[in-house]
Amino acid sequence: MSKVATFLCVLLLSHQTLCDGNETSENSIPEEKMYDDYRLPTSITPENYKLEIITQLNDTQGFGFSGVVWITMNVNAFADNITLHMKNLTIESDKVQLFELPQVTANDSMIEKSSRDYEKSLNEERKIRKIQYVPKHDYMIIYPAKILSKFRKYVVKIPFEGDLDTSLIGYYRSSYFDKKAQKKIWLAVTQFEPTHAREAFPCFDEPEMKATFDISLVHHKMYNSLSNMPLKESKEMEKIEDFVVDTFETTVPMSTYLVAYCVSDFEYKEATVKMKDDVKFRIYARRDAMDQVDYAAEVGPKVLKFYEDYFKIKFPLPKIDMIAIPDFGAGAMENWGLITYRETALLYRANASTLSAKHRVAEVIAHELAHQWFGNLVTMKWWTDLWLNEGFATYVASLGVAYLHPEWKSLDEESVDNTLHIFKFDALKASHPVSVTIGHPNQISQIFDAISYSKGSCIIRMMHKFLGEESFQIGVSNYLKKHEYANAKQDDLWAALTEVAHSQQSLPNELSVKEIMDTWTLQVGYPIIKVHRNYDENSAEITQTRYLSDRFKTRSDVEFCWWIPLTYVDSETREFNVSHAQDWMKCGKENIPEMKRIENLPDKDQWVIFNAQLSGLYKIQYDRWNYKLIVKTLNSENFKNIHQINRAQLIDDAMDLAWVGEQDYGIALAMINYLRQEDEYIPWKSALDNLRSVNRLLIRSELYGVFKAYVQHVLEPIYEKVGGISEPSKSERLDAVKHQSMICGWSCRFGVGDCVEKSVELFARWMKETEPDHVNPVPLNLRSVVYCSAIRMGKEAEWLFLWTRYINSNVGAEKSLIISSLSCSREQWLLGRYLDWSLNSTLVRKQDAASVFGGVAREEIGFHLAKNFFFEKIDAIHQTLSPDTSRISRFIKPLAEQMSTEKDIHELKELVTVKHKVFEKSTLGVKQALETVELNNQWKLNTYMDFSRRLNRMMARNFDYSLEDDEQEEAKAI
Ligand code: BES
Ligand code: ZN
Repeated sequence: MSKVATFLCVLLLSHQTLCDGNETSENSIPEEKMYDDYRLPTSITPENYKLEIITQLNDTQGFGFSGVVWITMNVNAFADNITLHMKNLTIESDKVQLFELPQVTANDSMIEKSSRDYEKSLNEERKIRKIQYVPKHDYMIIYPAKILSKFRKYVVKIPFEGDLDTSLIGYYRSSYFDKKAQKKIWLAVTQFEPTHAREAFPCFDEPEMKATFDISLVHHKMYNSLSNMPLKESKEMEKIEDFVVDTFETTVPMSTYLVAYCVSDFEYKEATVKMKDDVKFRIYARRDAMDQVDYAAEVGPKVLKFYEDYFKIKFPLPKIDMIAIPDFGAGAMENWGLITYRETALLYRANASTLSAKHRVAEVIAHELAHQWFGNLVTMKWWTDLWLNEGFATYVASLGVAYLHPEWKSLDEESVDNTLHIFKFDALKASHPVSVTIGHPNQISQIFDAISYSKGSCIIRMMHKFLGEESFQIGVSNYLKKHEYANAKQDDLWAALTEVAHSQQSLPNELSVKEIMDTWTLQVGYPIIKVHRNYDENSAEITQTRYLSDRFKTRSDVEFCWWIPLTYVDSETREFNVSHAQDWMKCGKENIPEMKRIENLPDKDQWVIFNAQLSGLYKIQYDRWNYKLIVKTLNSENFKNIHQINRAQLIDDAMDLAWVGEQDYGIALAMINYLRQEDEYIPWKSALDNLRSVNRLLIRSELYGVFKAYVQHVLEPIYEKVGGISEPSKSERLDAVKHQSMICGWSCRFGVGDCVEKSVELFARWMKETEPDHVNPVPLNLRSVVYCSAIRMGKEAEWLFLWTRYINSNVGAEKSLIISSLSCSREQWLLGRYLDWSLNSTLVRKQDAASVFGGVAREEIGFHLAKNFFFEKIDAIHQTLSPDTSRISRFIKPLAEQMSTEKDIHELKELVTVKHKVFEKSTLGVKQALETVELNNQWKLNTYMDFSRRLNRMMARNFDYSLEDDEQEEAKAI
């Protein structure tokens, strides 16, 4: 019901009949007032959808679908119209019908009937006055002749038709080449999240509008069909020759974005590990990829069971199908009971997929299965709380993967990776709070970003640590049980956790989870604490401000306040395993940060380190003396007295503080120096990620020679220690394997050891193989390094050889590895042609276009080509991505990372202004990209000199340099 009509009815409460079934007239509803926002009215809610879809998947007869939906609706308040979503569908308005159900209706039993019986059983048909379409809001508005009565049920029947295009959203088509049939074969599949169900059938396309679904799929008998629920029956279609109609069981109440169906000729393998309650678990793929489904079939049921135990709630559906789709926009999608994946995210083949690729598969499966509880069973009320879905799925997936593969020791790495990533991303002024107000629907797809996923996951981890295992687990389980088959907002989660935390005394009674966590989800950014030790009194004073990468900040930019769980460790006890808060940094009244004083700290000769194992999302800046103590330990044989996660944070914080000019590069470089004795992956990853940012800005500067020599100096010992390129790691640990690959990647790039030489040799051996598609002498987990180096050193022959392997490969993981390596070339024409090919979907799938572009843009030679390509072909890129053009962020960001001049800023701003239509679905990404270029520019203007001075002095001493030397020389220089 429109707001105006509701208002009238409230006024006329005493004359209720006026609002109940009275004829409406053209003049009584000022329609333009109805769509002042993009949310559906709540006066009508769907209860059940009966959906029949005919899929036409034929090269000669064309691609399309047609269908009918009967939506049973409840009227919660008198309504003069039915407003629902619909986009890009053809509907003949005069075929739309409205029925009123008898007051006491055994609705469920009616759903069992065939559509003809079903219609007969509907009560009286109600006249429809008119139907209006509002494309700007994707609305279809049905005006009944009479106002709809409160507490009655109605059924609307809408026949519709749509295109089965290759857009990767809505109900779309994908294809693959089948070896046996020697031809291209089509399939049709859905991708509805966040707002694409409306492109497949008219519906109330908002997460809170949950309903049950009865789905029937009509298709040619050469195909099979799948949907959320098990098949109930399959019958031949009377009216269309060679077509069958598959009817599926009724779903549980669920949101539209989780509905899925698929028509394909795929085969399946059933998981051998049977679930206790007989949840049938099947993995579907194209016939030629059926040799790659075993791993998913093994880990899927295991991790599902892990969640059942963790959440203490059984998986409610009788089956789960997981299917690998050849063309798929995202990585995977958690549709209830029918999870769809990109091939690289589900399929695994030993000897072709690297350990990292295997880890990715485990991670994605664990993530999507976690959604079956977080997202599917309990759904966010509105997209504002998307992070409840994605943050939770990301966090619990890391627990799931650790359960599946304890030998990988992946948990630390994943937490550090997420946190350090957020430290960079969320330091932008153009970041956004975890919980975001959604104004325009274009914003929804943009928040599937690092904030919802990684920051969401980091703050849940933080909460897990300060609440402790038991409170967290029970609280989460209670929350899920309380809101199952319904929706929740973050306050509901805080309430469930607070209740348990208080009863278990893991949080003081006067403190609620909401008070703490609101400071992390409602505000943008995160804090840096400044620790000032008083060495005479064995105490410290701590203050907090928002950390920003922009050196030009005002007080209002940084005067924020968070509830920070403090943990700290000293060099005597070295108790890095504390995870509960030893103390809290509070926000005083009116959210004003309080200065915190900590007593009983150790003597002057001992360091203190805050944030044990990065259990909180905050950076730290210490006083200089404490830094000296830390640097001394790092550069001594006792460096492992500091936990490796904290070694990573120390490097990251020091490099960041130097980047923004809050601290000189002396401390940061003194920390980097200790790396010559470091052998763990996590600190190295932190250091190299930071050096990569510096490298990008120095690559075209006169300092590059010195910088290169410095990086070589730091890398030399570790290249040998990890075994170089010739001795692949035998470790089962994921970090060890990733470490070797990362160190070799840098070593080859910076010409350390025999890296390039050996890579070229290995690649040449591969090229000489008579059956290179079957025999590959390059060690599996070093392939990315070897391919990239050989392509960088090679010419057309090497490039074409690898391209042919790409074309011939039947393994997604292998293809994606090759796609990245092909961009390492230094031949401009090859790269230029490669960029052109990326927009040609017969050569590179649409889903991979951004990877090709990003790969080329991140390379030294490729950057200029990619930049020109982007500026000149922006319309063609837009066209290729269309209609899901939010993915244009993935083009602009890798460019921005390397742009730093005033001219760059000007050019980018101009492009964004002139082509504003192209960027309208990626406004957030564009803002972040522009800010990145501006920050790079600031670094060049303000920090470059400091960095350069210190680096040159180090060089003069053969890089054998200490913080004390640095200080002395700096004093002399001034
Ligand atoms: N719900 C998302 C899929 C999605 C992403 C839908 C973006 C609409 C827009 C799914 O659960 C997901 O998060 N997939 C990730 C993989 C995951 C392991 C991080 C993806 O697609 O990258
Ligand atoms: Zn997800």
